[in-house]
Amino acid sequence: MNIPECRAVITGASGGIGQALVAELLRDGAHLLLVGRQPEPLQALAEAHAGKVTLVTADIRERSGREAVVAAAQRFGGINTLINAAGVNHFGLLEQHDETAIAELIELNVTATLQLTHRLLPLLRQQGRALVVNLGSTFGSIGYPGFTAYCASKFALRGFSEALRRELADTLIKVLYFAPRATQTRMNGAQVVAMNDELNVAMDDPHSVALQLLAAIRREEEERYLGWPEKLFVRLNSLLPRLVDQALRKQLPIIQRFARSKP
Ligand SMILES: NC(=O)c1ccc[n+]([C@@H]2O[C@H](COP(=O)([O-])OP(=O)(O)OC[C@H]3O[C@@H](n4cnc5c(N)ncnc54)[C@H](OP(=O)(O)O)[C@@H]3O)[C@@H](O)[C@H]2O)c1
Repeated sequence: MNIPECRAVITGASGGIGQALVAELLRDGAHLLLVGRQPEPLQALAEAHAGKVTLVTADIRERSGREAVVAAAQRFGGINTLINAAGVNHFGLLEQHDETAIAELIELNVTATLQLTHRLLPLLRQQGRALVVNLGSTFGSIGYPGFTAYCASKFALRGFSEALRRELADTLIKVLYFAPRATQTRMNGAQVVAMNDELNVAMDDPHSVALQLLAAIRREEEERYLGWPEKLFVRLNSLLPRLVDQALRKQLPIIQRFARSKP
């Protein structure tokens, strides 16, 4: 995708990765329709990029929210890129989770993401070429203790991306599955940061993640996984999962300690 020709809807635009991505895409001349749930962070983004972005405040889990995004995309004059970056994560052992929170996580990360993509596909089809970008995760390939619901949602998103790519193989719509490793955003609370520190798990700066995503969009890649050794573990987990079982078994007491000490 040639970035100056990019007319993109970005969900999760007010998030850590979203904001960095917005800045990088605008720098290269993209036209952006930003979607978020809370008006204040979206408004702050509009002020930081005055006159360069259009906003939609919408909860994409609601049908009315998705309809608002579709209507805004039509008023915008059409879109050729959809970046699904809205997502939530809850660290904790499954038995500690609240039932409603599990449902809400799956509803946003999976159901609403599929539903919004479904609603926007007809608009994407109207363009000569188009791109759907799904923000996955290393945890979309490796089941990790303490993140069971989140892993389930990102595994689903990876499957969705693969199936949609194959379904659209005879069209000019491409699908990119982009999988960052742990990133320094508010998605990761103090507990997760401290745990990653003890486990020597590196955390990326959201701007470096945004730059990698920009490169993948430019090249219209099908998949990009970030981080070393995370990329190796993704491969290893698909080929020799028992080895990853053993490595994670050693980390388990530390993960349990952090999960159980959560306020
Ligand atoms: N941070 C990481 O370690 C990491 C690693 C790998 C992958 N990822 C993925 O990268 C993406 C962005 O993550 P991030 O770290 O930037 O997250 P973040 O900073 O927590 O931001 C999350 C974004 O999602 C939006 N959102 C949440 N619920 C929504 C809803 N119901 N409707 C519409 N928007 C909603 C939020 O908007 P409001 O604030 O307005 O609710 C916010 O813009 C996510 O898909 C995440 O799973 C993150």
